[in-house]
Amino acid sequence: MKLKNQAIIVTGGASGIGYHAGLALAAEGANIIVADFNLDGATKVAAELTQKGVKAFPFKVDVSKASDVETMVNFAVEKLGTLNGIFNNAGIGLVKPFLEMDPATYLKVIEVDQHSVYYGMYYAAKKMVALGAKGTFVNTASIYGSMAALGSFNYNAAKAAVINMTRAAALELAPHGIRAVAVAPGFVNTPILGKDAAMKEALAKQHLHGKLIEPEQVASVVAFLFTEAASAINGSTIPVEDGFQIFKNS
Ligand SMILES: NC(=O)c1ccc[n+]([C@@H]2O[C@H](COP(=O)([O-])OP(=O)(O)OC[C@H]3O[C@@H](n4cnc5c(N)ncnc54)[C@H](O)[C@@H]3O)[C@@H](O)[C@H]2O)c1
Repeated sequence: MKLKNQAIIVTGGASGIGYHAGLALAAEGANIIVADFNLDGATKVAAELTQKGVKAFPFKVDVSKASDVETMVNFAVEKLGTLNGIFNNAGIGLVKPFLEMDPATYLKVIEVDQHSVYYGMYYAAKKMVALGAKGTFVNTASIYGSMAALGSFNYNAAKAAVINMTRAAALELAPHGIRAVAVAPGFVNTPILGKDAAMKEALAKQHLHGKLIEPEQVASVVAFLFTEAASAINGSTIPVEDGFQIFKNS
């Protein structure tokens, strides 16, 4: 086990990539705070992780609120005794053409997908430095942090910021023994994609295997990034996109 007794917060832990990351981290022996807006879902996931032999606790958080995130970090240390990392993963998409991208729609996604990553790294870093604890931050970016997509001006802005905030945090936190890295998934088969089967099939074709990426395939990379085996990966964003960015369907 590569993460035995490491204390890690997973945001968006009730569903999709976060749920599978919790499973992958627990399989390596990590203790987990399953943090999500959806407390019922987080409670079920924490119970499932506990059955795997690790400590796991649910926490209701709105990651777009600084005070919630600060309370979540304090809760983690209270329950797990220390803090060794956070997976800043909770996120949403609100798709609208640019001419309808009103400030409320823009800001909602910036607050949930971008500001949350700052809050998570800021409060976790302050706590870890105070405790003398070392560890890793992993942030969920997207291929759409370095490419543009129609209807996604807000999401493109937020995920691009996640990529450069990850670099900036890595630079500042290296002297404290904290790494910061990100993953940039292609289209992943989770509830965030909605229920339109035709749309999902069209998205699937944009990957080299012709399939959507499964959340387990992102989670395994996330778990690796938390381990010592990834100790020379710092400030980087790792694409998990099955070739999405290297070819275009004809
Ligand atoms: N699925 C994809 O195709 C894809 C691709 C690239 C990046 N991502 C990113 O992956 C991350 C996880 O998404 P997913 O695909 O697993 O989707 P998901 O909808 O399955 O999971 C997202 C989770 O985040 C939680 N959440 C949403 N807003 C929150 C808030 N304000 N506070 C706390 N929790 C909140 C939801 O309750 C949900 O459990 C997101 O950041 C998303 O942008 C997803």
